[in-house]
Amino acid sequence: MEERRLGPVVGLGTWNTFRGDAALATRIVGAAREAGVRCFDTSPMYSSEQALGAALGDDRVGATVLTKIWTSSPDEARGQYEDQLAWFGRVELEQVHNLVAWEQHLPWLEEEREAGRIDRLGVTHYSPSTFDELARALRTKRFDTVQVPLNPRERACERELLPLAEELGIAVIVMEPLGSGALLRETPAAEALAPLRDFGVETWPQALLKWALSDRRVDLVIPATSKPERAAENAAAGEPPWFGREERAYVERLAG
Ligand SMILES: NC(=O)c1ccc[n+]([C@@H]2O[C@H](COP(=O)([O-])OP(=O)(O)OC[C@H]3O[C@@H](n4cnc5c(N)ncnc54)[C@H](OP(=O)(O)O)[C@@H]3O)[C@@H](O)[C@H]2O)c1
Repeated sequence: MEERRLGPVVGLGTWNTFRGDAALATRIVGAAREAGVRCFDTSPMYSSEQALGAALGDDRVGATVLTKIWTSSPDEARGQYEDQLAWFGRVELEQVHNLVAWEQHLPWLEEEREAGRIDRLGVTHYSPSTFDELARALRTKRFDTVQVPLNPRERACERELLPLAEELGIAVIVMEPLGSGALLRETPAAEALAPLRDFGVETWPQALLKWALSDRRVDLVIPATSKPERAAENAAAGEPPWFGREERAYVERLAG
């Protein structure tokens, strides 16, 4: 099971951050890679795939592309996949976005994995109201990864999905680790972070990212940013030492 692990590491999400600006995408991705980020999450939904592919370039040694199939149409799904092969060469992790037609897509995605053009298959959903279905998908044992939200204010996945992923050896990817920005609206004062300094935490976003990664069932967090310097700030949270129970509880209190 251990070989399925991706981390614990910080990756980069790309929803709503490149904003159609290829030059900005190149700067964000470049800063992230310089800071040691390897995993880049995208989707046909984000209109960021082509810019990500261009930013990574042809020689993307060490970079792992996490993308998605997001449609219930078999033809459109194939079209999304063909585009991805053109932009990325290959796909390290192909996820079924928001469980859309997952049972329909699985057989051909498994064939592609078998053929070596995809390394792993995953499934995502942002809404706890779908977690029963997500659990059913995981119990088929046909997925290698699951992507769900987890932050101090959104912990629904802790009930069933994290234990299930651990039991089945499925890698966990955390979306919305900063609450899509909502957890950053009120930032604790610098003194409040003092007890976390020995853990390498200098900023509130780093505290939140380390909070998620310190759950040993979590492999990867994928914060998104439109500011290149923040990609490096976030990546720094992916280094040990990890929080214990006490530090995690402290961050939860700070998050309110
Ligand atoms: N259904 C799905 O599969 C699904 C759903 C949701 C998300 N996702 C994936 O998960 C990724 C992350 O989720 P998310 O984008 O919703 O939210 P997030 O990563 O929790 O938060 C992103 C927000 O945090 C801000 N931010 C990031 N780093 C910061 C820093 N160091 N300091 C201050 N502000 C910072 C960004 O603003 P700035 O741009 O101003 O830095 C942005 O507004 C997505 O990009 C996507 O790849 C997948």
